[in-house]
Amino acid sequence: MENRVEKQNSLQAILYKRGSLQLLDQRKLPLETIYLDVQDANDGWVAIRDMVVRGAPAIAIAAALSLAVEVSNLKDFSGTSDDAASFLGKKLEYLVSSRPTAVNLSDAASKLKEVVSKAASTAKDTTGVFQAYIEAAEIMLQDDVASNKAIGSYGARFLLHQLKDFDRISVLTHCNTGSLATAGYGTALGVIRALHAEGVLERAYCTETRPFNQGSRLTAFELVYEKIPATLIVDSAAAALMKDGRVNAVVVGADRVAANGDTGNKIGTYSLALCAKHHDIPFLVAAPLTSIDLSITSGEEIVIEERSPKEVLHARGGLGEQVAAPGIAVWNPAFDVTPADIISGIITEKGVITKNGTEDFDIKGFVRKATSNS
Ligand code: MRU
Repeated sequence: MENRVEKQNSLQAILYKRGSLQLLDQRKLPLETIYLDVQDANDGWVAIRDMVVRGAPAIAIAAALSLAVEVSNLKDFSGTSDDAASFLGKKLEYLVSSRPTAVNLSDAASKLKEVVSKAASTAKDTTGVFQAYIEAAEIMLQDDVASNKAIGSYGARFLLHQLKDFDRISVLTHCNTGSLATAGYGTALGVIRALHAEGVLERAYCTETRPFNQGSRLTAFELVYEKIPATLIVDSAAAALMKDGRVNAVVVGADRVAANGDTGNKIGTYSLALCAKHHDIPFLVAAPLTSIDLSITSGEEIVIEERSPKEVLHARGGLGEQVAAPGIAVWNPAFDVTPADIISGIITEKGVITKNGTEDFDIKGFVRKATSNS
């Protein structure tokens, strides 16, 4: 169900209160602010697949909350606590199948499955299991903003230290990693927000991010909304921008970081990293620990989602009129993998992972230390 909101220019992708979830329809931005009601896991699955909500952390949270809403409004459920846990487990598996590349979704699902199976072993009845699920999903929403703010602050400090010879810093970013891609504030865009708040951001550059235009529609919208000095470029202008000396650092988000640091992110990220390497510009990935997948050793194991040719053939990421020659074949991978050897650092909510003068990242060691301290 569509719900036009009075307040224009809202940057809140997810509106949630117990029993009710609305998602900002990001396909309509920046021209219209429309929220769609999500009543159950099925609505959540469709909203994720159809890009109503997108961005790795936002997908995970929207999925978790869509099921929380379904469970909050369940009239009756006949079965044992174990039945309730298995009902939730199946719904979570279904939600994970909506988009394959971002690990945040499967990470959230396995954490939630753990919560419900623990609750099933102790709860007196199914209400206890459902309650435990709802509370855990709600905590994910709250934790995301705090972790993004920490990423912003670590990233800004790191860049200021790395680039201490510059009074002010210009940063290029790709896709949308801001409030709209998360529960709020953003990851790579959070770093830009933090630099701006410190008064040291000269300018943010954002790419259009063809074919879905997350950069021109969403990141540009957020930057204008926040009054951050910013310039939009076409994707293919990035190398020329770097050659002109207009960019001091590139900061992007991640959908999945392998144990060796290889990073899956929006298509075009790899090209930006290669250009940055050539121009000796730091290339940083900003991502919460939930984007790190220690179960895969390298980026070769990252499943890359291929999306409809229509996104390329038609304007507005497939939503507008056809602009490409009819009959042409299309290859439309939504993501690519940037090898760890051309990534300068990975900014997380627990600090920045660097190579410390060695050839490789020790991501496992970093995560072990970070999670044992929390
Ligand atoms: O296809 P999308 O819009 O979901 O892709 C989003 C990205 O690639 C982002 O860079 C990534 O999810 C990180 S968002 C904080």
